[in-house]
Amino acid sequence: MKLKDLSKEYLNQTVELVVLIGGVTLKRTKSDKVYADVVVQDSTKRMETKCWDYEQFEDVFTEISEDQPVKIKGLVGEYNDRVQLTIKDIRPMKEGSYDLGDFIRKSDWDLKMMEKSLKVFYDKVESPEIKELIKRLIFSEPYYSRFTTYPAAKMVHHNFYHGILQHTLEVLKYALTVATTKKLTQRQIDRLIAIGLLHDWAKIKEYHPLPKLDLTDEGIMLGHIFLGSYQVEKEIETIGGFSKEDRLVILNGILGHHGALEFGSPVLPKTVEAQILHQADKLSGDVESILQFTEDHSEEDESFTPKLWNMGTGYYKG
Ligand SMILES: [Fe+2]
Ligand SMILES: [Fe+2]
Repeated sequence: MKLKDLSKEYLNQTVELVVLIGGVTLKRTKSDKVYADVVVQDSTKRMETKCWDYEQFEDVFTEISEDQPVKIKGLVGEYNDRVQLTIKDIRPMKEGSYDLGDFIRKSDWDLKMMEKSLKVFYDKVESPEIKELIKRLIFSEPYYSRFTTYPAAKMVHHNFYHGILQHTLEVLKYALTVATTKKLTQRQIDRLIAIGLLHDWAKIKEYHPLPKLDLTDEGIMLGHIFLGSYQVEKEIETIGGFSKEDRLVILNGILGHHGALEFGSPVLPKTVEAQILHQADKLSGDVESILQFTEDHSEEDESFTPKLWNMGTGYYKG
């Protein structure tokens, strides 16, 4: 059984699942008993469970690492109209008895197709200097294998294997539709593709590799907007003949891609390329988060999901 299969059909039954532990938060009941909120995940879903008998399993919880699957027995219950799982037993799986890839949520886009599309966007760029910048940061190791596997977020959108890659391709597709509709020049298109490919590039530094779905110290303290623009600036300095204006436009596009100072961008988008990129980025993130959230809440009886925090409203499930 996979986490996605858990439904009210199994209410009051004990089920067995093999999962990764994504996080354990210790809490205390009113009577001072320690219990834990345990985030579990497999390839289909990530969800929070309860473990009221934490102390009984403390050894297991403290010894397992985030990339070691465990077999759990859980009681299916209901809380706030949602299925809730209470862990009744937990045991580590034997080394070698599992394939880690089976426990990580992946993009449902075909990887070969995504790698091909990445190349197609790269081939559209005509400026040799901008091409060189992209080649160094995307198509060279150790970056390429990270860029094509890392998640793009912890919670809201594209928080799965190949997440940055899928999100980047969505952003570029949306952005280039606008660029061709509005007949942007080749130079503007070159810059737009560079901003698109590099805007979230530094998420390979901001996040740990999966299955650990968390920020690095560097990510917490510096963030992907600074880390990305800093790395791009460093590369540009060593690429001979890089135009001053391309440098400004590309860096402004990366620094401004969150679109507003209150969303973490230190400057506003100052070119049409940067504004298109920002809108395309927002569209990709918003649409993915609505689809994912609606799916996560599909088992509940109401017609609407609860409020999706980044959108400020709930969505009709149809
Ligand atoms: Fe971003
Ligand atoms: Fe993005």
